Amino acid sequence: MTALIPSTSFPGTRLRRNRRDEFSRRLVRENVLTTNDLIYPVFVMEGRGVREPVPSMPGVVRYSPDTLLEAAAQCLALGIPVLSLFPVIDPALKTPDGIEAANPDGLVPRVVASLKQQFPELGILTDVALDPYTSHGQDGVIDDNGYVQNEPTVQILVRQAMVQADAGVDIVAPSDMMDGRIGAVRQALEDRSHIHTRIMAYSAKYASAFYGPFRDAVGSANNLGKSDKFTYQMDPANRLEALREVEADIREGADMVMVKPGLPYLDVLREVKNAFGMPTYAYQVSGEYAMIQAASANGWLDHDKVMMESLLAFKRAGADGILTYFAVEAAKLLRAG
Ligand code: PBG
Repeated sequence: MTALIPSTSFPGTRLRRNRRDEFSRRLVRENVLTTNDLIYPVFVMEGRGVREPVPSMPGVVRYSPDTLLEAAAQCLALGIPVLSLFPVIDPALKTPDGIEAANPDGLVPRVVASLKQQFPELGILTDVALDPYTSHGQDGVIDDNGYVQNEPTVQILVRQAMVQADAGVDIVAPSDMMDGRIGAVRQALEDRSHIHTRIMAYSAKYASAFYGPFRDAVGSANNLGKSDKFTYQMDPANRLEALREVEADIREGADMVMVKPGLPYLDVLREVKNAFGMPTYAYQVSGEYAMIQAASANGWLDHDKVMMESLLAFKRAGADGILTYFAVEAAKLLRAG
C-alpha cells in the first residue's frame, strides 16, 4: 500500500511541476465551469419597454414582459439552461396574506406562459414565496405578534405553486422556509397530474444580510422595514441543521436542493453534496453580486477574473449549478473562451 503512494517529500515531489505550463495545468484541472452550470435570475414588472436599473445592483435591470422575452432569447442563444423569475408586484396588490401570489392571471403565470410559448426549450424556474406579495414583506401570513404562521402559509404557497405549474413552469423553487412545504407542494402537483414539474428546494436558506439589494429590486425592503426573518430562515451560525433541512426536503420530494447564500456558505454546500449526492445548487445572492460590482467599479478588483473565480469556487465546493446575476456575462466570456 505505502509503496504505491508516491513520495510526498521534496524534491521527489515538486508540486510546481504540473503548474509550470498551461497544457499541464489544463491536464490536472479538477473542476470546470460551463454554461450548463448557470441559472439566470431576472426581475420582472408590469409595463412595456421597461429596463429599469436596480441602483444597488449595477448592471441588473427590472424587465417588463416584452423586454424579458429579449433577455430570454439571449439566454437561449448563449446556451444558459434556465431563467429564474422574480416579480416586482404593484404595491396596490400587496395584502397581509399575499394572495395575489395565487392569482392565475397574475404577472408570474402570464410571463411563464408567454416564455414557454415563445421559447419552449428554455427552462423556467419560479420562486414560491409570498414576500413580493405581502404588505408586511414577510414570506408568509403573520399573526398579531408578527409571527409567520406555518400551515396557513403553506396552504397559500401550494396554491401559488399550482398556478405556476398550471402556467407551464418547469421548476418550482420554494424559498419560504416553512416546514413541510415541499411535501405539500409535491402532493398537490401529483394530485393535479403535474408529474414532470421539478421542485428545487431552497433547503438551507439562511437569514442573511446579503439579500439586501434583492429586497430593493423586488420592492419588499420598505414593506419589511426593520423586521427580520430569523423565525424561519436559518441561523448563519448553524451547519448541522442545514443537513436536517436538506434531508427533510429530499424525503418530502425535492428533485434538487439549494444552499443560499453562496460564497459565505461554501462549507455548507460541500457538506450537503457529500452527505446526499443530490443535484445541489448554490445561489450567489444579490449582496455578493453587489460587492463584486462595487469593488470592480472602484478599480479595486478585476471584474471578469473575480466573477469567473467566484463561479468556479462553487463548482469546486460541489455545486451542480449556480443561480447568479452574472450568468449572461459569464456565458459570454465562456463562449469567447
Ligand atoms: C424570497 C427570496 C429572497 C431571495 C430569493 N428569494 C429574499 C429573502 O428571502 O428575503 C434573495 C435573493 C438574492 O438576494 O439575490 N423569499
